[in-house]
Parts: sequence; structure tokens; C-alpha cells
Amino acid sequence: MKKIKGLSLLYTPDDIDGAVQRLSYEISEEYRERKPLLIGVLKGSFIFCADLVRTLDFPMEIDFVRAASYGMVGVSSSGVRLLKDVEQPVDGRDLIIIEDIVDTGLTLKYLYDHLMAKRPASIKICALIDKRERRAVDVKLDFIGFTIEKGFLVGYGLDYKEMYRYLRSIYILKEEL
Ligand code: IMP
Repeated sequence: MKKIKGLSLLYTPDDIDGAVQRLSYEISEEYRERKPLLIGVLKGSFIFCADLVRTLDFPMEIDFVRAASYGMVGVSSSGVRLLKDVEQPVDGRDLIIIEDIVDTGLTLKYLYDHLMAKRPASIKICALIDKRERRAVDVKLDFIGFTIEKGFLVGYGLDYKEMYRYLRSIYILKEEL
């Protein structure tokens, strides 16, 4: 496995693939007959979404939203704003929000409320990584890939100041933010 200065390896591509396969199985069990609308949260979840949808072999649709926090880059804050909304109608649909990593939970809470106001039939949340330590609001994660306590992670779509998204593994950023 490639060593990268300042990063320590946390999940290999095999680990990630195992988690994606398991999530795919869980989602398929529940949604096979329901033609859900998957909503990826940009930018961080773009690789996760691409891998996940290719393991799901039933009819579905895919859309994206983009949210940003008002805080500094790499630091979650209490203010969240929407940079890109869904383009598909969500009224009466079964939605699955696909998020890369949940930290304070504020982004997901905002997106959940925003989408709920559009009167979908249901909303569930799939998160690749549930990071527990700084959770500030209660959000129910229905499908979870990995759970960690703390740390800043990069790779597999996750960035630090737009760096590292392209890496195939997930790493812990060793330097202080
Ligand atoms: P939350 O609103 O605090 O839950 O933060 C969610 C967003 O913050 C994620 O979608 C990421 O964009 C970003 N984020 C939080 N923790 C990390 C991390 O460890 N690495 C990269 N991005 C992170």
C-alpha cells in the first residue's frame, strides 16, 4: 500500500469494498421493489455513490445536493447552506441520502429537514462513516459503513482543503488542523 507523508492508513480499498457490499445488501433488501431516489451529498460522497450504485441491481434514480457550512474549510460549524438542490421531483418518493461522513450531524439534519419539506414518502440515510465524538444533533443513520470515534479522514472522496479526494484508501490526517 502506498505510503503518503502526513497520512496514516485507516481503510484499504478491500475494507471499503466490503463495507459497500454490505450496505448494498442491506439497501437492496429494503428497496428492491420501491424504485428509490438516491441523493448523494456533494462533493465528498461522489466516489462512494458511484461504487454503491454499481452494486445495486434494481431500478432507482440518482440525484445530488450540495451543502456547505459557514465555518472554516475543514471545520464543521452550526450554519449550513444549500449550494445545489435536487433536480428530480421528490414528492411521494422513497429517498435515500448518501453521505460520506457524519461529524456534528448538522449538515445531514439540515438536508433531512430541507428534503422532508418537499413531502417525500420516506427518507433514510446511508453514511459511509459515522464519526461520533463531535455529534451535536440527533440524526438517525439507517445504513452505516464504518464507525469511528474521532479523527480527520481523507481519501475516497474525502478532502482536506480539496486535497486527497482521489486516493483509493481512507487515511487519518496526522497533522493538526
Ligand atoms: P457535519 O455537518 O459536522 O456532520 O459535517 C459533515 C461534512 O463535514 C461532511 O460531509 C464533510 O464534508 C465534512 N467533514 C466532516 N468530517 C470530515 C473528515 O473527517 N474528513 C473530511 N471531511 C469531513
